[in-house]
Amino acid sequence: MTKMLIGNVKDIDIKGSRKLRVGQTEIALFRLSSGEVRAVENRCPHKGGALSEGMVCGSSIHCPLHDWRIDLHSGTVLAPDTGHVTTYEVEVDPATGSLYLTI
Ligand code: FES
Repeated sequence: MTKMLIGNVKDIDIKGSRKLRVGQTEIALFRLSSGEVRAVENRCPHKGGALSEGMVCGSSIHCPLHDWRIDLHSGTVLAPDTGHVTTYEVEVDPATGSLYLTI
């Protein structure tokens, strides 16, 4: 596991997203309306939609292609659909706003 500095929480609007690539893995970052930042793989388990282009609603993301909903805490696809995406740990330094991703 590697912890890396990936930017600042100010770089992501509330209910907004950002994407980044680490090696072969594309990761989507989301800032929830609570201010919390979550990270998941940027690939919908249905047909590969880019989750970073979806809409944040509460603590879930709606895939932009066919509207599957995925919980951003657990990575679980919400019913009636099923599936899972990988989640990653993100920490925010409360003093500086620096964002750290563990992958
Ligand atoms: S590709 Fe995401 S819902 Fe179909």
